[in-house]
Amino acid sequence: MKKLLLLVFILAAIVFASTVFAEEKGSYVSYKKCGGCHISQRDSWLDTSHAKAMDSLKPKAKTNEKKKAKLDPNKDYTNDKDCIGCHTTGYGEKGGYKADMPEKKAKFLQGVSCEMCHGAGSLFRKKHKEAGANFKKTKEATPRKELADAGQVFDYEEACAGCHLNYKGSPWKGAKEPYTPFTPSVDAKYKFDFEKAVKETGKGKAKAIHEHFKLRDVFKGEPMPKIRAEIQKTAKEPKAGEEKEEE
Ligand code: HEC
Ligand code: HEC
Ligand code: HEC
Ligand code: HEC
Repeated sequence: MKKLLLLVFILAAIVFASTVFAEEKGSYVSYKKCGGCHISQRDSWLDTSHAKAMDSLKPKAKTNEKKKAKLDPNKDYTNDKDCIGCHTTGYGEKGGYKADMPEKKAKFLQGVSCEMCHGAGSLFRKKHKEAGANFKKTKEATPRKELADAGQVFDYEEACAGCHLNYKGSPWKGAKEPYTPFTPSVDAKYKFDFEKAVKETGKGKAKAIHEHFKLRDVFKGEPMPKIRAEIQKTAKEPKAGEEKEEE
């Protein structure tokens, strides 16, 4: 009897722990939410190949590239679960992209959007709102650690690796199927260069990341993105009219 009670207790503890952890991770909210406040980043991101990643899965798109990677250029891959995990946002996760969702919702989750690099946002976006309002009133910054605890990602290199270095024989330890078909052995241009990709935004260069805009330091302390200080030196002024959350 005692053993049974212990077992029930352990099971209850596991269920409790898993709901707590699920809560900490947060769910996907789509770029519509983030973009309501971060208008400058959103508008710039809309111009990147990440925003248009779903188009590449359509038949007849990128024909030569597909042939080179031994894919069928006439096939429609937009519903293929071996592809959409890396060409949409939050596929298979809470709040994320689903192949059968209505177009009205789907369009804000297609492509590699904010949350694939910054983390699923249901919990941390609320902190952005509160901290922003508090900063306006008191000029006091909020510890960045609260964002990390709410699931915001600051190790961008690891986030990029989940897609760009996910193939057999990759230098990245976490690789698992489905793999990306576009690897350095298909063409040397697919070799992943984190620093270059993050810094070279704007016209005329390979655009992958949105342009960077000045932060007012509403958040302070660790975990600070390694590349932040350097990027902020040349960041632009954001457009006026920020901080209206889209509902
Ligand atoms: C209600 C408005 C609002 C929403 C919605 C919002 N943010 Fe923010 N966010 C802010 C404010 C305010 C800051 C602080 C900006 C500053 O320091 O100048 C911020 C800061 C950030 C930062 C920098 C944090 C740091 O390290 O200092 C990132 C990255 C970011 N937001 C991404 C996102 C993403 C991704 C989403 C969607 C999941 C999102 N935000 C949703 C208002 C918002
Ligand atoms: C969810 C998967 C995913 C993540 C995470 C991701 N990418 Fe990508 N990336 C893609 C896909 C898919 C494309 C190809 C888009 C297309 O053309 O269809 C791409 C394209 C690119 C390109 C080529 C751009 C061009 O126009 O030639 C660069 C550079 C790049 N990503 C850098 C990064 C960096 C840096 C990070 C992390 C900060 C990152 N990516 C995170 C999936 C991802
Ligand atoms: C593990 C993540 C991942 C999976 C799975 C994946 N892709 Fe991608 N895909 C990427 C990344 C990353 C890039 C960007 C490569 C670059 O430009 O460096 C990309 C780029 C592409 C491109 C553009 C190549 C170019 O040169 O412009 C096409 C087309 C594409 N993928 C089709 C597919 C198809 C079709 C599938 C399924 C059979 C698929 N992808 C599965 C990550 C993935
Ligand atoms: C492919 C990865 C990727 C995507 C997609 C992405 N970001 Fe970023 N973002 C970054 C990187 C890398 C930085 C630079 C490091 C830093 O300062 O945090 C950054 C920085 C930021 C910052 C800090 C200020 C700045 O402009 O540098 C904000 C705010 C932000 N992103 C919001 C967004 C929003 C909103 C979206 C969606 C509309 C988005 N990001 C999409 C990778 C991404």
